[in-house]
Amino acid sequence: MTQASTPQAQIGVTGLAVMGANLARNLARNGFVTAVHNRSYAKTEHLIAEHGTDGSFVPSESARDFVDSLQSPRTIIIMVKAGGPTDAVIDELTPLLAEGDILIDGGNALFTDTIRREKALRDKGIHFVGCGISGGEEGALNGPSIMPGGSVESYATLGPILEKISAHVDGDPCCTHIGTDGAGHFVKMVHNGIEYADMQLIAEAYDLLRRGLKLEPARIAEIFRDWNDGELDSYLIEITAEVLSQTDARTGGPLVDVIVDAAGMKGTGTWTVQNALDLAIPVSGIAEAVFARGLSSQAAQRAAAVGNLPGPDGVIETDDVDDFVEDVRQALYASKIVAYAQGLDLIAAGAQQYGWQIDLGAVARIWRGGCIIRAAFLNRITEAYAADSGPEPVAGADQDGADAADGGTSHQSLLLAPYFTEAIGKAQESWRFAIAQATFAGVPVPGFSAALAYYDGLRSARLPAALIQGQRDFFGAHTYRRTDAEGAFHTLWSGDRSEIEA
Ligand code: 6PG
Repeated sequence: MTQASTPQAQIGVTGLAVMGANLARNLARNGFVTAVHNRSYAKTEHLIAEHGTDGSFVPSESARDFVDSLQSPRTIIIMVKAGGPTDAVIDELTPLLAEGDILIDGGNALFTDTIRREKALRDKGIHFVGCGISGGEEGALNGPSIMPGGSVESYATLGPILEKISAHVDGDPCCTHIGTDGAGHFVKMVHNGIEYADMQLIAEAYDLLRRGLKLEPARIAEIFRDWNDGELDSYLIEITAEVLSQTDARTGGPLVDVIVDAAGMKGTGTWTVQNALDLAIPVSGIAEAVFARGLSSQAAQRAAAVGNLPGPDGVIETDDVDDFVEDVRQALYASKIVAYAQGLDLIAAGAQQYGWQIDLGAVARIWRGGCIIRAAFLNRITEAYAADSGPEPVAGADQDGADAADGGTSHQSLLLAPYFTEAIGKAQESWRFAIAQATFAGVPVPGFSAALAYYDGLRSARLPAALIQGQRDFFGAHTYRRTDAEGAFHTLWSGDRSEIEA
């Protein structure tokens, strides 16, 4: 428990706010001698005073002592705020490190920062590992889902430690080497985007039951508990039931009724959408979730609109409440499948763009436990990628366009894995009905609707994009391709309207 004269710690954690402290405790509880350090020593002392008996800790007041307390190659996890604070810690530690040491960033860093940092440290012979860690405070302590990037070499040292402290499902650790440099943080970013989408979809389901059917939160909590026993079994459904059954001590009414309806965000969902836009990958479920949080926070505009914009009152007329509840469940399940399919598409596109070899089946496998989006159906996604009949890459799916704006990925949608094709097929009548009812009643369901529009777009043999190409050619001579001939073409719209090869 005291400062060691010879290096004895196997791993170190710097940054002992709740996430860092819990991760350090998790390491110590798993038998690793854990060096701990924090900018203000009081936090380090607090950790040792409160939880010193969790295992073997080596506390240090200075960064120098902290580094010196670690066995070589030194392995240090940085658990500070993403952005400037991370750079500051890296700058402080780097001069104290030696070649071969491993520096891990366990925060929610932007993956492009991770790529930059990895490159700078690689030039100094230090391994930098951008590592996504999901599961909040509880996960950090009892087993998170861990998404490390960085070099294969660093994973040889780091992997066994991280795998041991991660959550386990069916004996498998929820940790795998995702890919080089920023791959781990990219995948964590998409995880968070899916988290936004999932939460939005659940919120829409709640709204339909609350506003639409006028059910009480306690009754809706029971419905969610029931859903949690089936296909929708997941952490987010489970905690939704908990939140909805919470009684407010002050008013004696449901807590959810006194919480201000303006959703906050730290920004990882926004990053997901920004990067999807750059890669031209439609993640409409995630985008609608980010926009819905934005709309919820437009207090002044909302206040001005309430009572002044005409429309139906949100009440859904139904003869059979249980039937409609089931429709909503199916709509939630189908929309959720679409959100995951879109997120996985983005990971595939990111891997293609940044040169990562990412095993999507392994990603789904390590999301089965520990993380916020853990869900029973991730087993089915893992299986889909493992099965021969699963969504294999499609050769030649990329299309050479008439101009540089054409996107595309060679990755085949998860929706085409037989299990999910069938699941959505079964759900779709209810899915369409729930959205139609919501639309007539005036209950906004942007997540449900965007997911269905995506699904219908994907399965359409012809899209109105043909018309858009015609319009683009009309006003900007952007050219178009023909269905019956190779090459790019342009119509002389302001001339004799004959077609020329571009
Ligand atoms: C996790 C979470 C976590 C995230 C928070 C806050 O995987 O443990 O994704 O990393 O930062 O849930 O996210 P927002 O404040 O953006 O909603």
